[in-house]
Amino acid sequence: MSHSVKVGFVGTGGIANSHLRNLAEMENVHIAALCDIDEARVNAAVETYGGHAYTDYRRMFDEIDLDAVYFCLPPFAHADAEIIAAARGFHLFVQKPVVLELETGIRIAETIQKSGVISCVGYQGRYSNVATATRDFLKDKTIGMVACHRWGGVPGGPSHWWRVMEKSGGMLHEQATHQLDMIRYTAGEIVEVYKIDAMKINIDQENHTIPDAEVVTLQFESGAVGYISTSAALINGGGGSRTDFIIEGHCIVQLGWGEVRIVPEDAATIEVPDGQALSIDEAFIQAIQTGDRSLIRSSYFDGLKSAAVSIAANQSSHEHRPVRAPAIS
Ligand SMILES: NC(=O)c1ccc[n+]([C@@H]2O[C@H](COP(=O)([O-])OP(=O)(O)OC[C@H]3O[C@@H](n4cnc5c(N)ncnc54)[C@H](O)[C@@H]3O)[C@@H](O)[C@H]2O)c1
Repeated sequence: MSHSVKVGFVGTGGIANSHLRNLAEMENVHIAALCDIDEARVNAAVETYGGHAYTDYRRMFDEIDLDAVYFCLPPFAHADAEIIAAARGFHLFVQKPVVLELETGIRIAETIQKSGVISCVGYQGRYSNVATATRDFLKDKTIGMVACHRWGGVPGGPSHWWRVMEKSGGMLHEQATHQLDMIRYTAGEIVEVYKIDAMKINIDQENHTIPDAEVVTLQFESGAVGYISTSAALINGGGGSRTDFIIEGHCIVQLGWGEVRIVPEDAATIEVPDGQALSIDEAFIQAIQTGDRSLIRSSYFDGLKSAAVSIAANQSSHEHRPVRAPAIS
């Protein structure tokens, strides 16, 4: 019988509630305490999931016996909380993108490394059978180019942090980070980026300072090239996402939400395993219970590498020049 894992949360907004729902259904997980600077929000979450309510994470860390803490914070709010938690020996689940600026991420990564705690970043796409199959298939193939788009609208109203560049880092950094991370996971490291962006369509949207269109070129360590385009202009719907890998054998691997296929169909076969893979929450909790870190597919260190690429892309658009993605080691 595995031991019960005592979990706390910092941030109890949208994504926190989805993790809380998953954890509430798992055996041997005790939701011990929740914290949010929005008192009404944390009280509502405690009413549904139990635990003690806090508006100050320092008090929660001092007063509650925890094994692990979920950080479900907007990009701009990641900083001291993770450093304090890691230094105290709590295992960390951190939502993507892990940080808005690199120096803070490096300080958090160093504390995690020093304390030896388990860390997991919320790139849940890595835990699907499709991701495993695509990664395995591409492992020994030559990739020439990766082409990706993620197009959508603008979540939240005028006061939402997502539409403010200084708070979210924009669509590539905040949302298309899932696609960027999956590209790193399946096609290897990106060493240089150059982004151009525009604001042409959403001009009448209040408090909207992120670009509504971005195109970033990617130079891979392998020598392959690629690009990601994002749009936040589809506010009436109709968005979507897909990544195409042009590979040896003159065919394309198309990776979409939860599916992968080869074009032309008869050029090769990708075997996607049947059966339910471990969810990201199950993987994190089981890694804590068993000490098996191989269950985690994106540690903080790895998540920081994905954030570093889009941070470099934002720098490149600001400086109108290609920028090397910083080596995180
Ligand atoms: N993995 C995924 O698929 C996925 C999906 C949605 C969101 N996310 C990510 O999760 C993060 C949070 O997104 P969200 O939609 O839950 O945002 P949200 O705005 O709904 O919730 C964030 C919460 O953090 C709280 N908060 C801010 N600073 C705090 C602090 N210092 N201490 C305690 N609480 C604080 C806010 O009051 C708010 O309730 C974002 O980075 C987002 O990209 C990931």
